[in-house]
Amino acid sequence: MCGIVGYIGHREAYPIIMKGLKRLEYRGYDSAGIALFDGNDIKLSKTKGKVSDLESRVSQEITTEGSLGIGHTRWATHGVPNDINSHPHYSNSGNLVIIHNGIIENYESLRTELTKRGYSFTSDTDTEVLVNLIEDVKKNEDTKLGKAVQIALNQVVGAYAIAVFDKTKPNEIVVARLGSPLAIGIGDDEFFVASDASPFIEYTKNAIYLEDEQMAIIRRGKDVKIRKIKSDTLVDPYVQELQINLEQIEKGGYDHFMLKEIYEQPSAIKDTYRGRLRVKSGIIKMAGIDDNLDKFLKANRIIVVACGTSWHAGLVSEYIFEDLARIPVEVEYASEFRYRNPVINKGDVVIAISQSGETADTLAAIKLAKSRGAFVFGVCNVVGSSIARETDAGAYTHAGPEIGVASTKAFTTQITVLTLIALKLAKEKGTITQSAYQSHLEELSLIPEKVETALKSDAHVQMISDIYKDARNFLYLGRGYNFPVALEGALKLKEISYIHAEGYPAAEMKHGPIALIDENMPIVVIATRKGHYDKVVSNIEEIKSRSGKIIGIVTEGDVSVKKLADHVIEVPETLESLTPLLTTIPLQLLSYHIAVMLDKNVDQPRNLAKSVTVE
Ligand code: M6R
Repeated sequence: MCGIVGYIGHREAYPIIMKGLKRLEYRGYDSAGIALFDGNDIKLSKTKGKVSDLESRVSQEITTEGSLGIGHTRWATHGVPNDINSHPHYSNSGNLVIIHNGIIENYESLRTELTKRGYSFTSDTDTEVLVNLIEDVKKNEDTKLGKAVQIALNQVVGAYAIAVFDKTKPNEIVVARLGSPLAIGIGDDEFFVASDASPFIEYTKNAIYLEDEQMAIIRRGKDVKIRKIKSDTLVDPYVQELQINLEQIEKGGYDHFMLKEIYEQPSAIKDTYRGRLRVKSGIIKMAGIDDNLDKFLKANRIIVVACGTSWHAGLVSEYIFEDLARIPVEVEYASEFRYRNPVINKGDVVIAISQSGETADTLAAIKLAKSRGAFVFGVCNVVGSSIARETDAGAYTHAGPEIGVASTKAFTTQITVLTLIALKLAKEKGTITQSAYQSHLEELSLIPEKVETALKSDAHVQMISDIYKDARNFLYLGRGYNFPVALEGALKLKEISYIHAEGYPAAEMKHGPIALIDENMPIVVIATRKGHYDKVVSNIEEIKSRSGKIIGIVTEGDVSVKKLADHVIEVPETLESLTPLLTTIPLQLLSYHIAVMLDKNVDQPRNLAKSVTVE
């Protein structure tokens, strides 16, 4: 996820773009850049770091005149965050300049093709490939920029929101979108382009939101022409009047980043498996695994190190790796592992999981494991983070920035990556039948729409939250794959509502926690049809006979739990190994609504930090 801004009109573009980039920094902040047309030439400045770093760089490097410009704040997907990989990117002739939010999946083959035709590349990005593809089309077909963009985009697989201009025709900006947002602000003889409306809200309330597979040619002082990228059909622009304020826009209309991130999970999971999960050909492609396959196949054991929510994702992976790939797994709190003189044998593979990639204990655990000769693989969200750099290889989750302190989409996307790895190893090792493997691939590809369905329980969960918001203790129970989900549900409630909550394996309840149960104790029980269902139903009976209040997380169409529980929340049916991706959704919503009802600071709970960089 990156932020893009553009301006063409009668004012100075620089201050508008700079202010806009600051408002879009929530979308990514590992590097930033700007390109302005000063009437003669393009002035471009870019840097690793935040928009404030860009401001200082600009003041030393370029003049800032010009009423046409584009700017970018980056959240890296291809290529580490550095000055060169920052946007905007020039085409080889220096005539075209582009900014891009998204991922071009087939960029490697396009790059090879363009290299054969004499193009060279200075960055590692997919974006530089795209701008040169546009240039190549423009030259070969002798077309205008708009047509060249259209032809080029028809050769591209992936997701994008782009803005591009040509210094030889400095009266237009061409924009396009597929899978990444793009809004066009319509002012008086001036136009704005941005990932959301926040950069232009004080200049105009009139905006066009481009739909997927649409592009627009924005002509200075004239108009906006929208057409479909595939069919070339012209589309009548639909200009909306914006009713929302700045803060609402940055949060995409949601009240909190946490809720926005909960709702982003269908697209975040899709972004995680995009280009990796190839259902039709039955292939899982992950460069970090492909390049180190022998190490994984020879592994006697996998040791997972992580903290907090990432540790819970690690626990889910223990079930997946053991169940599907038959590799023994140990899941360690990084903070314990690093001080425990752990036994690391030759052939052990260590997987470090971290959303931020900056957690001090996880980083220290990695260093310890490496010093003892282990091969360390990272599963991180933030590209170019310390953990991503410290590990020997890795796979990014591509979830986009997570701003809410309570991790939500980080959890489900980490599980998605770990599931892909486990399936790939299972296939290579022959520990899974072909039909089971294929049905896992198919089911995984359906998870985003099933998460979408699970999110429909929101109003019902809100109603349940209202009933239990004043409880002082909660118990969360689950078995098998859903035991770590119970732990995660309890952590979510604790950290944002400050209600004491404990997660337990359902059967362990009898060994202590059952003493806590009375009519004041709400107990969330994950009781999906696949996964020790009958056993969990027996546990529910035990709770019922002690008057506990039962909130069951069940599979659609459930009958038995419905008869026993005080409330049930349904999630769609899926394979047992994939249930955590669905059962966690109502638990995130439950904690969110309770915290809101208790008037807590959901996005910045007390005493917590998004990234724990101290021990
Ligand atoms: O960035 P990391 O994944 O390494 O962070 C680890 C924990 O600090 C983190 O998961 C924390 O537990 C969450 N904020 C909980 O929601």
